[in-house]
Amino acid sequence: MAFKRFAIFASGVGSNALNLIAYARENANQFSVEVLVADKEDAPVIIEAKRLGIPVEVIPFISTGSPKLDKKNHEEKILNSLKKYNISWIALAGYMRILSADFLANFYDKEIGKNKVINIHPSLLPSFPGKDGYRDAFFAGVPVSGITIHFVDSGIDAGPIFLQKTFERYPSDTLEDFISRGKKIEHEIYREAIKLLAEDRI
Ligand code: GRF
Repeated sequence: MAFKRFAIFASGVGSNALNLIAYARENANQFSVEVLVADKEDAPVIIEAKRLGIPVEVIPFISTGSPKLDKKNHEEKILNSLKKYNISWIALAGYMRILSADFLANFYDKEIGKNKVINIHPSLLPSFPGKDGYRDAFFAGVPVSGITIHFVDSGIDAGPIFLQKTFERYPSDTLEDFISRGKKIEHEIYREAIKLLAEDRI
């Protein structure tokens, strides 16, 4: 069971990122969070991660009007900045960009046949991919929704599913009730997934 060094990528509030940072500290013999990568300078997660003593790399996406080139440049900057942390895994936690196949290839592991990059998505994939998982599931009126942890490929919320957990949607729920029930599950399931990875129980 090799020690796992994680980078977390986040773009926003970072409740999942902070949850994983706390969990890594509780399991310091198995895995660590070496760095947080943020693509938005004003992401609230930056301040919180720094407060917890986690190194933060803020790498804003610069748009010059050439989307393909801009993405390539952005991802190259991320790869360069990651070099010094010697990480083995990436956990996406509300990172709002699609990683390219070229970027992901750097984390391909022959033994497991997957990229060592995982993501959390707030629906039962393959239903409701995209940036509004909660909202889309809620307004579709599903009686049960859930959270998915999956390996990442270059599709949108695609890639092999690793773990899923359901939660109910009650008739009286507002969207906010629904999301807050889901968030609790997010924090539980991401811990479970990281623990399984750490123990090579994929
Ligand atoms: C979560 O709902 C996660 O499932 C999705 O993005 C959101 C990020 O929330 N991928 P937070 O910033 O971790 O609180």
